[in-house]
Amino acid sequence: MNREWVSIKNAVNREFIAAESLELIGSGLSARQAIKKVAEKFAISDWKTHSAVHALVFETLRARNVLDRIIKEVLNNKSLKDLNPFMLNVLRVATYQMHIQNVPAALATNEAVVSIGQNMEEKDKQLINALARRIEKIQPSTIIENTSDRYDVLALEYFMPKWLVKHLIEVWGEARAKSIMSNLGKPPKRTIRVNTLKISPDTFLEMDHRMQLEKTPLLDVFNVVKTEVPLPRVKGYKESLFFIQDFASTLVSHVLKPSPEDDVLDACAAPGGKTTHIAQLMQNRGRIVAIDIRRRRALELHKKLKLFTVKNTSLIIADANMLPLKATFDKILLDPPCTGSGTIGSRPENKWRLTKRYTKWISKLQIKLLNHVSKAVKLGGTLVYSTCSIIKNENEDIIEKFLQNHPDFYLERTEPFLGEPAINMPEAQRLLPDKINCEGFFIAKIRKKH
Ligand SMILES: C[S@@+](CC[C@H](N)C(=O)[O-])C[C@H]1O[C@@H](n2cnc3c(N)ncnc32)[C@H](O)[C@@H]1O
Repeated sequence: MNREWVSIKNAVNREFIAAESLELIGSGLSARQAIKKVAEKFAISDWKTHSAVHALVFETLRARNVLDRIIKEVLNNKSLKDLNPFMLNVLRVATYQMHIQNVPAALATNEAVVSIGQNMEEKDKQLINALARRIEKIQPSTIIENTSDRYDVLALEYFMPKWLVKHLIEVWGEARAKSIMSNLGKPPKRTIRVNTLKISPDTFLEMDHRMQLEKTPLLDVFNVVKTEVPLPRVKGYKESLFFIQDFASTLVSHVLKPSPEDDVLDACAAPGGKTTHIAQLMQNRGRIVAIDIRRRRALELHKKLKLFTVKNTSLIIADANMLPLKATFDKILLDPPCTGSGTIGSRPENKWRLTKRYTKWISKLQIKLLNHVSKAVKLGGTLVYSTCSIIKNENEDIIEKFLQNHPDFYLERTEPFLGEPAINMPEAQRLLPDKINCEGFFIAKIRKKH
């Protein structure tokens, strides 16, 4: 079996490229990195093909649990692990096409066989042909009918991991959990933030960028209704006149409300979506200290600061927990590492990587960072804690624990208040994708007493 066989650039079908990308995702790459790598390998420069592959990979990933259940049905006593990873991904793509996308089954089977034919042996081709034909005959509804556990059923119906279904029901009850789940898996509305260090929102709106934009309650943030080309190809993107950023993420810097006189600490800053936003809200005045532990991400932030013409920010590559933090700050943003469970609509690969155990592990890291970084809040100063997670242990539980041990801090209402009250914490807000078409976020603000 020679996987390097394919040398005729572009002489491959979309299904093959999607399966190759899915294989790379299985080995740890993000969906975007994987598609980029495979597109480069096969010299795919046409963005329409790129977009089609992107859609196929993302949709296949989104429904992976159901697809795997269907495939298992035709493997008799074998498990998915018995299949070569590339073949498994070819089958996932074909199963998605025939049972979810409603592509004629014979066509999907044919494309699967062609994908295998690109670089594998005749017996592999025959095996895929036989399995795909059996998959054609499966009725996905019977799989759900034959599943007795209620959480398993919901996991299949909403394409979610079972532990997340359980968590959402525990916290919000079944009706709201279903509403959240039916929106969580979809990519949110695209939004952009205008870089006001370079251009005013009004002037930007008048530019010939050929985007149809819609105002939001935030003056520098717009919903993208329509574009003729993908956002990174829109006029003004390369010049950093605007930044592609989820709406919920843009709200965080507004809640921090930095003023041009402030000293601000951004404790987990890279890749810098929020740092550059904070700098523009400060009109490049005052001072921002941005810290990040990861060198590669910090260098990305460094590049962004230059592109966005940010001049008031010093970057430190360090573990925020290890810094003595002798200086104090008027405002601190702590946007710590989190599970990213609120972003699985745009990063579906994460959905299948997250585990309940991981949420527990990461929440320990979050509380440790909050305990340490909060020491640098000036008397009367504020700290905004935000995550792009919808898991309670990473959000309300962290703030609650912190306040129990720090009576010198109290919760303050997060303004602008565009989400819904957090759980038993009305000052903090939750942005949930069924109410606002954005990523799932949590934002809390605490103030240090004088
Ligand atoms: C959620 S991301 C921050 C996103 C960023 N605020 C933005 O808007 O672009 C969390 C960041 O925390 C960094 N990080 C993790 N542990 C850290 C630590 N102990 N000290 C400093 N940074 C840390 C990670 O490298 C990652 O870049």
